[in-house]
Amino acid sequence: MRSLLPVPAERVNLVEAYSKSIQAPEGRPFVRLNMVSTVDGAVAFAGRSGPLGGPGDKLVFSVLRAIADVILVGAGTVRAEHYGPPRLPPEVQALRERRGQTPLPRLAVVSQSAYLDWTLRLFSAAPAGPAGPAAIGAQEAPGGPAGPSGPAAPGGSAAPGGPAAVAQPRPLVIVPGAAPAENVQRLATRADVLTAGEREVDLSAALQELGRLGARHILCEGGPRLNSSLVAAGLVDELCLTLSPKLAGPAGGGLPGGGWLPAGGGLPGGGWLPAGWLGSRGQAVARRPGDEAQSPLGTSSQPRQPLSPLEIVHVLEEDSFLFLRMRVQHDLAPGS
Ligand SMILES: NC(=O)c1ccc[n+]([C@@H]2O[C@H](COP(=O)([O-])OP(=O)(O)OC[C@H]3O[C@@H](n4cnc5c(N)ncnc54)[C@H](OP(=O)(O)O)[C@@H]3O)[C@@H](O)[C@H]2O)c1
Repeated sequence: MRSLLPVPAERVNLVEAYSKSIQAPEGRPFVRLNMVSTVDGAVAFAGRSGPLGGPGDKLVFSVLRAIADVILVGAGTVRAEHYGPPRLPPEVQALRERRGQTPLPRLAVVSQSAYLDWTLRLFSAAPAGPAGPAAIGAQEAPGGPAGPSGPAAPGGSAAPGGPAAVAQPRPLVIVPGAAPAENVQRLATRADVLTAGEREVDLSAALQELGRLGARHILCEGGPRLNSSLVAAGLVDELCLTLSPKLAGPAGGGLPGGGWLPAGGGLPGGGWLPAGWLGSRGQAVARRPGDEAQSPLGTSSQPRQPLSPLEIVHVLEEDSFLFLRMRVQHDLAPGS
């Protein structure tokens, strides 16, 4: 993988490239979104993101996971992508521990309904037992400030002797207080349930709670609805976008179905919407009663929130895939 910006280079150390200049805002952990999109704005093809990616994208995905304390993901993505527990090579786990992190990042699922598929490996592989969110355990790394400071990447050098694989931590599931009690009780046998908000999940409160449990660096892997809510709440600090050199056309919800939408409906608000959220003219449409009200998007002609300005941290390239790392300029956002 080569660097195009800020400085052209034929080879890039991905861990360094994605670790530097991470700044958590006051009062909550740093939040980074990672998504892959076709050039025409589709984020899934036949319901999955896999067909959009490639080897470089998989590598960046793994590096971002290796750096993060928590992987945040919406329930829709967990269902669509059949999520399992996060895995990292033993040598990467050892490097994380040396940095003061837990060996594996904790997976946190956001769900309004608390209704999830218990047969998914994410839950079936988790240790059974009583509920209660255990600390995430990112401690101050020796000599290091908040955020990752040392290399930890797939393929990194192994510690002598190699550490033994660690027990898989239980996933966290973040639900609102109004989530059906029977679903929550069932969840609690295989996950640690964190309640944030009453009628709806309060993402700001959820992030603060994750911070209180020890998380300083959160990687959000989507999907579109969770991304949109985070952007609407001003809770995104960085976007890592893989631009896949593919056109999905209408099948992926991209051109002409809605990927390239007029202002207020494009990335990340509309381009990252599943096709079912987009009408034939690209306007946001309700999937079920209540969804429209929860959407921060409004319609493509009447955006409910101002645009969030971004600046480039880096642009990398491999096999015509572009890897954009962009920082949200909170200080330039309207009303800041
Ligand atoms: N290209 C990529 O990088 C990428 C990444 C991720 C996903 N995807 C694709 O995106 C599609 C899924 O899209 P999606 O929008 O349904 O995904 P999503 O945001 O992961 O899931 C939506 C569901 O997550 C929960 N949720 C999300 N935000 C919430 C909030 N603010 N408050 C409460 N609950 C919230 C709700 O769960 P409940 O239904 O449980 O109430 C909601 O129905 C899939 O096709 C997947 O392959 C692509």
